[in-house]
Amino acid sequence: MELSKVIEERRSIRHFIDKKLERKIIEDILEHAIMAPSAHNKQPWHFVVVQDKYQKLDISLLLNDYSSDPVKTTCDVIRDCSALVLVFADIEDEVMDVQSVGACIENMILRARDLDVASLWIGYIIKIESELQRKFSLEKRLIAAVALGYTDYFPSKRPRKTLNEVCLWY
Ligand SMILES: Cc1cc2nc3c(=O)[nH]c(=O)nc-3n(C[C@H](O)[C@H](O)[C@H](O)COP(=O)(O)O)c2cc1C
Repeated sequence: MELSKVIEERRSIRHFIDKKLERKIIEDILEHAIMAPSAHNKQPWHFVVVQDKYQKLDISLLLNDYSSDPVKTTCDVIRDCSALVLVFADIEDEVMDVQSVGACIENMILRARDLDVASLWIGYIIKIESELQRKFSLEKRLIAAVALGYTDYFPSKRPRKTLNEVCLWY
């Protein structure tokens, strides 16, 4: 798909169908993620791919304990997606390294769209950072998670501010 079409047609998907994502597709998405630029080329990202349904359920229930209503949908997404990619990172310079990880996540969700794979960028996951560090024996910071899978519901475009509202020219 042309890049501008991929960008335009990407959506946050919160409804997943029960269809397995093949490992080679997940690997393809992650191979694109790690092509992202990073400050000083430090590549601070580290992924944990969770496909096991009991592990996903466990993570969903852990997050549910911290939940107010909007987070409940995210818990359901974690339970129902085919693969949950937890994005950990070695953070030394917070502003620089978090930007790098953001670039890598954007690559991930754009490549997913390119392959007709549905995705959701999940920031709420940081509420259970310490639980997940313990669960996977990692001392790295948890930055986000990305839910991947297939959907039969493609939402319409969410509103955006106009360029005039967000851009000054000198
Ligand atoms: C850093 C970040 C964190 C996000 N965290 C969540 C989340 O935890 N749960 C969720 O449902 N959506 C989450 N989203 C998705 C946004 O809600 C979504 O991108 C926004 O509403 C615009 O919709 P669109 O992605 O379909 O264009 C997150 C997006 C970003 C960039």
